[in-house]
Amino acid sequence: MTRHLITSAIPYINGIKHLGNLVGSQLPADLFARYQRARGNEVLFLCATDEHGTPAELAAAKAGKPVEDYCREMHEVQARIAEGFRLSFDHFGRSSSPQNHRLTQHFAGRLADAGLISEVSEKQVYSNADGRFLPDRYIEGTCPNCGYDKARGDQCENCTKQLDPTDLIDPRSAISGSTDLEVRETKHLFLRQSQMRDQLDEWINSKTDWPVLTTSIARKWLHDGDGLQDRGITRDLDWGIPVKKGEEDWPGMEGKVFYVWFDAPIEYIACAAEWTEATGRDDAEWERWWRTDKGADDVRYTQFMGKDNVPFHTLSFPATIIGSGEPWKLVDYIKSFNYLNYDGGQFSTSQGRGVFMDQALEILPADYWRWWLLSNCPESSDSEFTWENFQSGVNKDLADVLGNFVSRITKFCRSKFGEAVPAGGDMGAEEQALIDELSRRLEAYDRSMERMEVRKSAQELRAIWAAGNEYLQSVAPWSTFKEDPEKAAMQVRLGLNLIRFYAVLSAPFIPDASGRMLSAMNTLDTEWPSDVTAALTALPAGHAFTVPDVLFAKITDEQREDWQARFAGTRD
Ligand code: MF3
Ligand code: ZN
Repeated sequence: MTRHLITSAIPYINGIKHLGNLVGSQLPADLFARYQRARGNEVLFLCATDEHGTPAELAAAKAGKPVEDYCREMHEVQARIAEGFRLSFDHFGRSSSPQNHRLTQHFAGRLADAGLISEVSEKQVYSNADGRFLPDRYIEGTCPNCGYDKARGDQCENCTKQLDPTDLIDPRSAISGSTDLEVRETKHLFLRQSQMRDQLDEWINSKTDWPVLTTSIARKWLHDGDGLQDRGITRDLDWGIPVKKGEEDWPGMEGKVFYVWFDAPIEYIACAAEWTEATGRDDAEWERWWRTDKGADDVRYTQFMGKDNVPFHTLSFPATIIGSGEPWKLVDYIKSFNYLNYDGGQFSTSQGRGVFMDQALEILPADYWRWWLLSNCPESSDSEFTWENFQSGVNKDLADVLGNFVSRITKFCRSKFGEAVPAGGDMGAEEQALIDELSRRLEAYDRSMERMEVRKSAQELRAIWAAGNEYLQSVAPWSTFKEDPEKAAMQVRLGLNLIRFYAVLSAPFIPDASGRMLSAMNTLDTEWPSDVTAALTALPAGHAFTVPDVLFAKITDEQREDWQARFAGTRD
């Protein structure tokens, strides 16, 4: 048994996330967590809301609420929607938790003791028109690296380069658009990442099994001329984690908070501590996952995230952990994603463009989205959501192949043999051929699920469903029945067992439909198959079942056009 610690990038608190956000971290992380649990491994799957920083403050102001209230409410909203999508977090935490306050201040204290934090008098952009210091991401301008003209002061979303606001060409306030900006002096803390370059380099070099896409981003920041710069980790904001050195005050840092990107990844750890508290477990339980001196040395830690998050997870967060000098668990594997586009453009939270998670669940159950998003996820390149693709993917795979199979075999059995698995004789060559194919495909499915090759896994699963359909089509028990009812009974027995087999294998992708298939088959046996022949005899002759309601309704052209029109504009 392996112990899997799995985290998804923690979504910003300000607003409901769109389907592109969902498929870029939470959903594939859930797929992997469900798969590993199904394989009998011990899993701790964590996610949280990322609650600090200016976006939260501004969104609260816009909603006319105190930021604490706004965050509490939005956390609940995101938690409910996550449940709606059946995201199986062991805990959905909050980066504003007391645990994260303590840990973030603790890390800052350790880093300071190790001489890895410097206090720097900094010049900071002050907007006269807005009457405030502008946090990095509220300054926009042209990226010095790629020339993109809407780069933000913290990062260019076009080329992913981490930036300082003073790097921007022609900067302006993102709040008011004003260019009446001036630079004022103020003191801030910097994490001396440059001191850790060799350690980080060595660590990245040890990751020989990581995709080149991931390590090359890290190497670029390590080795490019201005690569690994010291990072400012404090901000002039009210909302956030107060700057302290462990439990002690930090002279000169009064009124400042830690930068959101400093405390957010620490929430991965704090979230485990929140989990033990929420579930009445002992503290030792979370340390078992996070401290290599307390049992976490045999944990396999996998992080899921969008590509824009990679630098923070390959360099910034490891710098915090390594710099602390304490035996915290470091990530073993990073699975990162490209972007999902929406109908010829980009999903955009700020512009309200695309389908948002709450809206998606209003029009169709989670499984439809889970299947389409995962089977089309932006893995090796960007991918695109269009209503046509969505309709055809859902209709073909879920309705025509899987749903149709389940419906056909259960209804046929009911009409000819009643609602119990019929006995029939021994299996023949056709059945053996099917079993051989399924055995091959199961192996491929397991292999790609283990490697987190999401699209490939979906393809294998689809092929596993299709093999059953083709078998049924070719042996045609409805014809066999006329000459050889005994043989038809055997074919039907196999078909009914295939439903259970499919339910088990499909659960990580479509957990609700899987549950309905299992309950129709009247079984709690969800053991992951190793031997296909054995798995296909789990339901013995005489075992009662029921015909389920339609598993997946087809999306009609009318619905598609309706949704297309409804989601063509922008959300208010
Ligand atoms: N909130 C960030 C985003 O949505 C992700 C934070 S991930 C963490 O891009 F590592 F900081 F936790
Ligand atoms: Zn750029």
